[in-house]
Amino acid sequence: MLNIVLFGPPGAGKGTQSEKLMAEYQLDHISTGDLFRKHLSEGTELGQKAQEYMDEGFLVPDEVVIGMVEDKIQSEPNSNGFIFDGFPRTVKQAEALDRLLNANNTPICCMIALEVPFEELKKRLLERGKISGRADDQSEDKINNRIQVYLDETLPVSEFYKTQSKFNGVNGVGTIDTIFEKICAVIESFK
Ligand code: AP5
Ligand code: MG
Repeated sequence: MLNIVLFGPPGAGKGTQSEKLMAEYQLDHISTGDLFRKHLSEGTELGQKAQEYMDEGFLVPDEVVIGMVEDKIQSEPNSNGFIFDGFPRTVKQAEALDRLLNANNTPICCMIALEVPFEELKKRLLERGKISGRADDQSEDKINNRIQVYLDETLPVSEFYKTQSKFNGVNGVGTIDTIFEKICAVIESFK
């Protein structure tokens, strides 16, 4: 199994690159943001719980996220591997993911961190906000808050993977195809 963590700040290109990785390596995609938005659109209890956090760009509580990811992993027993996009976002989530995967003897192979300057992130997200309908893309304040939450709560996850020698920074500025090639080169070096 090939399990990859695709990491990076809001707007770094995690979703965009995940689509290409799924096709290249026949992997299942677990984007916690997409899963929450699906719950939201279906009006589930979990979606309602998540909405107030998401709309303002705060993190949904760990226990809610971890439970949802566990269910999703268990729903794909024949998977070739997973791309984790937007998860783990706290050290507690990273520890829980290791426990879940180690229980199945299928650890994370590598973590790829897309690196993009904050001004570029803001530009991308404001632009996407014109068409995405995502409440959290709708103002510079909300985008700044998402970036601040990333710095305060999510960036420490890098250290977690550095201590396991699984961290790989990749420049996330450039064409989508060039970035994809760099990501694939990292994955190949871990296979
Ligand atoms: P989530 O859905 O994960 O959003 P995010 O991390 O804020 O990031 P985005 O999805 O906006 O960006 P992305 O990196 O996927 O970039 P994309 O490819 O779309 O999370 C949303 C919320 O859900 C969180 O704030 C939180 O409330 C909650 N949540 C989710 N996971 C959670 C967790 N684990 N714990 C707790 N709470 C959680 O690209 C962005 C734009 O840039 C697009 O328009 C794209 O076309 C464009 N673009 C992509 N690549 C390039 C490029 N190379 N050059 C130019 N433009 C590009
Ligand atoms: Mg995304």
